[in-house]
Amino acid sequence: MTPEELIQQARAMLPLAYAPYSGFPVGAALECADGTVYTGCNVENAAYGSSLCAERTALVKAVSEGQRSFTRLAVIGNTEDFCTPCGACRQMLYEFAPDLTVYMANRRGEYLTASLGELLPHGFGPAALGSEAMSST
Ligand code: THU
Repeated sequence: MTPEELIQQARAMLPLAYAPYSGFPVGAALECADGTVYTGCNVENAAYGSSLCAERTALVKAVSEGQRSFTRLAVIGNTEDFCTPCGACRQMLYEFAPDLTVYMANRRGEYLTASLGELLPHGFGPAALGSEAMSST
C-alpha cells in the first residue's frame, strides 16, 4: 500500500469524526504488521477531557481485535497545516510500535513523514518496567 492510499483511508474517516466542541475533525489509519488497516476518528465529549483522538481510536480498535504489531500510521486533519499526533497518542503508540512510521497529512493530501522515535525521543515503554512487569502478558 502506498502512503497516499493509507492517507486516503484516514481521510475517509473525517466525515465520521464527532467533534462538535472543537470543530476539528481528524482521521487516522493504522496499518498492522499483517497488512490489516484499522481506522479511527476523534470522538469528543461534553466533559472535554474525556475526548479521544483519532489515532487512539484506531489503536484501541486494533488492539481490542488482537493486533499487537504495527508498521505505519496516517493521520489527517481538514486543515492547511499538517496534522501531527498529540503527546498522549505518541505515548500510547510507543507502547506497541516504537519503530512506527507516521504520515502527517493536510487537507490537500500533502504529508510529512517521521518515525515515532523522532516524534517521541527517549520514549518510555514496556522495557523500562523490566521483564518482571511484562511477564503477565
Ligand atoms: N485530535 C486528534 O484526534 N488527533 C490529533 O492528532 C490532534 C488532535 C483531536 C482532539 C480533539 O478532538 C480535536 O482534535 C482538537 O484538539
